[in-house]
Amino acid sequence: MSVTILKGTVISAPALGRLDATENGYLIAEDGVIAGVFSALPERYAGAPVEDFGDALILQSFADLHLHAPQYPMLGMGMDLPLLDWLNAYAFPTEARFADPDYAREIYRKLARELAENGTTRVCMFSSLHTDATLILMEELERAGVTGYVGKVNMDRNAAPGILEEDTEESRRETLRWLESCQDFRYVKPILTPRFTPACSDELMDFLGKLGAERNLPVQSHLSENRAEMDWVRQLHPDCGQYWETYAKYGLWNGRTVMAHCVWCDERERQAIRDAGVTVVHCADSNQNLCSGTAPVRVMLNEGIKVALGSDIAGGDHLSMFDVVAASIRASKARRIQDDWQTDFLTVPEGWYLGTSAGAAYFGEAPGFAPGNPLHALVLDDSALPQPHPLTPSERLERCVYRRQKDAVRAVWSAGRKIFSAE
Ligand code: GUN
Ligand code: FE
Repeated sequence: MSVTILKGTVISAPALGRLDATENGYLIAEDGVIAGVFSALPERYAGAPVEDFGDALILQSFADLHLHAPQYPMLGMGMDLPLLDWLNAYAFPTEARFADPDYAREIYRKLARELAENGTTRVCMFSSLHTDATLILMEELERAGVTGYVGKVNMDRNAAPGILEEDTEESRRETLRWLESCQDFRYVKPILTPRFTPACSDELMDFLGKLGAERNLPVQSHLSENRAEMDWVRQLHPDCGQYWETYAKYGLWNGRTVMAHCVWCDERERQAIRDAGVTVVHCADSNQNLCSGTAPVRVMLNEGIKVALGSDIAGGDHLSMFDVVAASIRASKARRIQDDWQTDFLTVPEGWYLGTSAGAAYFGEAPGFAPGNPLHALVLDDSALPQPHPLTPSERLERCVYRRQKDAVRAVWSAGRKIFSAE
């Protein structure tokens, strides 16, 4: 048996709004599976090697439940248009570049490294429609040690003619080829990815729904992000009262479905989300950058909906989930103002829970550093920040959420393996 023992100030989020902290604590894993957090080294581990990080923070690593890998080249650019125009002007031409496997390899290797170095160890990720580039993306994530789901995007209508398009038959055929070719990955698995309702014909949605049921595959897509998008969906599916029904109609709506954004979901749509156990991915940066709106995250949480966070690069402009957590908290305050102070904002412990435990739940983990979870952790060294007076572990975590520090992430573990070390 291999034992991993990490020593430092261990902080975790075992419930929404709660932080557990153990100073001079030990986070211990056996064969990559968490055994527990201890305030003293248990007798049975005496003599085992301890990685001592001194006073540094030992934190859960992040789960980014929504991002677009082929938009990484445009990160931080082109956010001056609303969603539908933005897709045509910026996103589609950028994704079209991934027809070239060499380009895909170079970009995806960098992206996978950057995710690992920033402590994002679980993802739900969109690729582009290109099968070969999608397989390259999966290889590079696997190589870097990032785990989770990747989807070849399906989009057989309203795409970008001549540069980024597939017809229905091609989309079906390539999806099957992709699924055949990605069976040997250990940590990165396929997820069905109809881009969004406007980009998928009824025939394609029907195919994907049946395929998902047949092969027990999860599904990711976009929902009620933008008003113009929702009007368009209504025109395309006059038989559906609400956007979510266009997914439900084809069997794409269940407890393993992940829906990004959900900015404009009303009470009825939220009820459908909760009843089906769909996971909502809140993408605060993207929603602000594309002027989509401010999602009612607090209300969704109060209603018992599963909510996690996504960077949504490159609608979102930050890959680091520290920034994404901070953006979510800020967005919740903007929403509070919008709601005439009738809704609460997210506290820092709540934001932290959403970026870590809530996303990890989608992968079957219990919240916090629960025994039995695979070890997903990072070490954060905040010693470069001023230390004017002693701070509590919670204050230190809060400051690290708000203050970006270069090279502060010192080491990262993903599914029990050490995948990054600053040394
Ligand atoms: N809806 C459909 N495609 C996209 C995309 O690439 N980004 C965002 N933010 N929304 C979408
Ligand atoms: Fe998106």
